[in-house]
Amino acid sequence: MRILGIESSCDETAASVVQDGKKLLSNVVASSAQAHIQYGGVVPEIAARSHIESILPVIHQALDDARCSWQDIDAIAVTKGAGLGGSLLVGVLTARTLAIAHDKPLYGVNHVEGHIYVNFLTTAAPWLDGTYQLPSKQPTFPMLGLIVSGGHSQLVLWQDHMDYKLLGQTHDDAIGEAFDKVARIIGLPYPGGPSISKKALEGNSGAYKLPKAKLRGKYDFSYSGLKTAVLRTAQDIIGKDYSFPSLEIAPLLTDQQKADLAASFQRTAVETIVDKTVLAAEEFQPKSVVIGGGVAANGELRRQLSDRLPLPAEYTDIKLCTDNAAMIATLGSYHHLLGSSPDDPFTLDIAPNLSM
Ligand code: KG4
Ligand code: ZN
Repeated sequence: MRILGIESSCDETAASVVQDGKKLLSNVVASSAQAHIQYGGVVPEIAARSHIESILPVIHQALDDARCSWQDIDAIAVTKGAGLGGSLLVGVLTARTLAIAHDKPLYGVNHVEGHIYVNFLTTAAPWLDGTYQLPSKQPTFPMLGLIVSGGHSQLVLWQDHMDYKLLGQTHDDAIGEAFDKVARIIGLPYPGGPSISKKALEGNSGAYKLPKAKLRGKYDFSYSGLKTAVLRTAQDIIGKDYSFPSLEIAPLLTDQQKADLAASFQRTAVETIVDKTVLAAEEFQPKSVVIGGGVAANGELRRQLSDRLPLPAEYTDIKLCTDNAAMIATLGSYHHLLGSSPDDPFTLDIAPNLSM
């Protein structure tokens, strides 16, 4: 069984073919990230226009790389949400058209669930050999999933495929969003996650004491307070008060102060989410713990989880943590395998605010 996955929820246009829900045959990602750098964040109109240009070449490349023709494809899975409306529309309309033209079942799937399902990939085609470091075995249920991306910070417990419960989530900013905003304050390039983790290598994570938010929900998080604490600390370092504009701070910080702020922020941001993940692992005794989303690429997060979880955690390749279509094809594979009803290719709609 081979599923073609299509992803276009943000600034990555991606297509991938996955076999039997566990074997990666191709993974093509075209990103418009470069075009957004000068604005310090994704510009929806630019992203949508870029999807229009890239989507068909990306899909054809994914089929070619997988050594597949349309006859070899059993179904199409596409991200219907959550994401940017204009970006999602391009992927969904393309998938609908291809499903009609090639007479394939179509599944509109949840991007956030996809970030967790990418952990079910355990092998790659021989022509991808060595390109991906995949877990040695598939996760087993009950499975605790930690989703940490630019738009989401959630802890979810799966009893089985398609049977899950949201344990907790952020009340305000997502963890990736906090990385991006803190990077702006200390003058590091977008996207903030990779640039903060790189800068943090030169810094002292104990240099500045930053607060961890305390919330009533046992498994809920909050990141806007931590971001503000970094801002206040930075204003303090340069001897200005809270009215000093955040975007004028960076040039007044030394390189070492930036590195110390990056390291202190990263440590606190990661500890906050690892504290709750360990708590949930102790309470629910899952058989596996998996992480997904862009921030799952973070080395400090992987280290802290491995050190503190009561069971071994396996992580997927960093290239599969940020947005891609392999995660969508994998999730689509389980919809197809488990007999979910396909969507109507004439009416499948986008769901920009889709939640878990
Ligand atoms: O999953 P993703 O590609 O897109 C969303 O669905 O949001 O996640 C993007 C987020 C960005 O906020 C980016 O700064 C963050 O993931 N990110 C990282 C790292 N790589 C990407 N955050 C921390 N450490 C990283 N190495
Ligand atoms: Zn994502």
